[in-house]
Amino acid sequence: MEQKSWRESYTELQRLVLPADTNIYNALYGGRLVEWIDNVASIVATKHSRRRAVTGSIDSLFFLSPIHLGDIVIMSGRLNYVTRTTMEIQVDVYSEEGLTGVRRFTTTAFLTYVAIDQDGRPTPVPGLLIEDEETKRRFEEGAKRSEARLAQLSRVRESHKNEI
Ligand SMILES: CC(C)(COP(=O)(O)OP(=O)(O)OC[C@H]1O[C@@H](n2cnc3c(N)ncnc32)[C@H](O)[C@@H]1OP(=O)(O)O)[C@@H](O)C(=O)NCCC(=O)NCCS
Repeated sequence: MEQKSWRESYTELQRLVLPADTNIYNALYGGRLVEWIDNVASIVATKHSRRRAVTGSIDSLFFLSPIHLGDIVIMSGRLNYVTRTTMEIQVDVYSEEGLTGVRRFTTTAFLTYVAIDQDGRPTPVPGLLIEDEETKRRFEEGAKRSEARLAQLSRVRESHKNEI
């Protein structure tokens, strides 16, 4: 299987927070942000694999600062790590005040996408080209997170084994 650079799938997306995106406190709904994050990661997964890809898991989603009506939400998605059929994508989120340009870090999320074939079965994805020290560090950290995630996945599967 070929190897591809993270640059081929790197994705940036910016959204203006409109009234329909906010709660009664004029702050962005958490669920709306998760939707946007998933959308960014979905583009990364599709560009890297050129396969159908579904969200397998989302982890480490901490909301560190509120995003307000009229703010600009700036998201970037980068592929960190791949296994045979999965891709771990890191989405970093910042908010920017439209009138002042003040920027705040909001969250980093790690999403794992699984590439699937026409029958919905996991299918192989290209490898990730390790082209520099940062890519290597991200890959190694992704491998550690993957190990922890799979341990958690098997605990969840075990406790619901007759219901999935
Ligand atoms: C994700 C899905 C395709 C996995 O299918 P599966 O037959 O259970 O997959 P397997 O157990 O054979 O695992 C395939 C690979 O995916 C990984 N994996 C499976 N489920 C995963 C999950 N939830 N999170 C992260 N990785 C997962 C496995 O570790 C394995 O990795 P590998 O490349 O190292 O082999 C299946 O569980 C599914 O369709 N889930 C619903 C997805 C969906 O609808 N998402 C939208 C949000 S509701």
